[in-house]
Amino acid sequence: MKRILTGIQPSGVPHIGNFFGAIRQVLELQKMGESFVFIADLHSLTTSPKAEDLRERVKRLAVDWLACGLDPESSVFYKQSDVPEVTELMWYLSNVTGVGLLERAHSYKDKIAKGFSPNTGLFTYPVLMAADILLYQANLVPVGKDQKQHLEITRDVAIRFNQTYGEAFTIPDGYIPDNVAVIPGLDGQKMSKSYNNTIDLFGDEKPMRKKFMSIKTDSKGMEEPKDPDTCNVFQLYKLFATPEQLEEMRARYIAGNYGYGHAKQALFEAYMDYFAPMRKRREELLNNMDYVDAILKKGAERARGEAMKTLTKVRELVGIV
Ligand code: ADP
Ligand code: TRP
Repeated sequence: MKRILTGIQPSGVPHIGNFFGAIRQVLELQKMGESFVFIADLHSLTTSPKAEDLRERVKRLAVDWLACGLDPESSVFYKQSDVPEVTELMWYLSNVTGVGLLERAHSYKDKIAKGFSPNTGLFTYPVLMAADILLYQANLVPVGKDQKQHLEITRDVAIRFNQTYGEAFTIPDGYIPDNVAVIPGLDGQKMSKSYNNTIDLFGDEKPMRKKFMSIKTDSKGMEEPKDPDTCNVFQLYKLFATPEQLEEMRARYIAGNYGYGHAKQALFEAYMDYFAPMRKRREELLNNMDYVDAILKKGAERARGEAMKTLTKVRELVGIV
């Protein structure tokens, strides 16, 4: 049986890129094997959030994942910081991780290119991520395409550790399905909180309609035929529509007399329908936060049990016990 593991950062309001790029894969995979899902609160400290904001986001994210259908029985659902063993493992891993490997990380280089002045946490981010994965001997790590390189770093670090000290870690594989690789945002760039171009997973209806209407398109007039394959609205519609609905919209684009406003309205309705059952469940959870806290607490206990098995072995291999 494969062990599946993934983490999601509580770095803002979850968006549909997170859903299709990460959450949905886990929901599918949790049916196949044992899964570990955690809220990466330690990672989000690299952006120095306010303490009260971080606390709030962690709770929100827990509610949102459960609302999406994460099953707390078959999945071990926990907060990264509730298993402090991960930071200890990170230290051991740091000592087999070349600086050059981290300097080549795209996400680090991109942030620097965008003018962030990096802290050490941002630089060693992939080592903490490796610790997240290796601590639980995960086999399969579902993530979006942007995390591919971080997984390669994890594999390199694991191989290096195993060669240096002896077999301690399972070498994990990424799970990055092609058809959901990168979800575009309102402006056509990759949807990301850091680009401010996101569509919330559970936003209120009115502001969300406004957001959908603001999706960037070209300036073709209502009557003109349009190209579905280069249109951002159509790309997003693919996520929600049935094959028949998709073909119908494609034909309308090509025929003309179908404005972007119409397409956006259809997209908005498809989005609302798609998430309606999850919205309902979310409301119920928000009224029952004790239940949510209890799930995370139980998840942390289960996770720590597993973490200790790996850590005991690693401590021995490196020679500190
Ligand atoms: P953001 O870029 O908005 O800060 P995160 O870095 O918190 O998003 O990503 C959380 C998870 O969602 C990761 O697994 C990431 O790969 C995935 N993800 C984020 N944005 C997208 C996207 N636009 N398309 C596909 N997957 C995405
Ligand atoms: N870095 C991931 C992201 O930004 C979140 C994450 C942290 C993660 N640790 C992980 C994902 C371990 C998978 C496995 O999306």
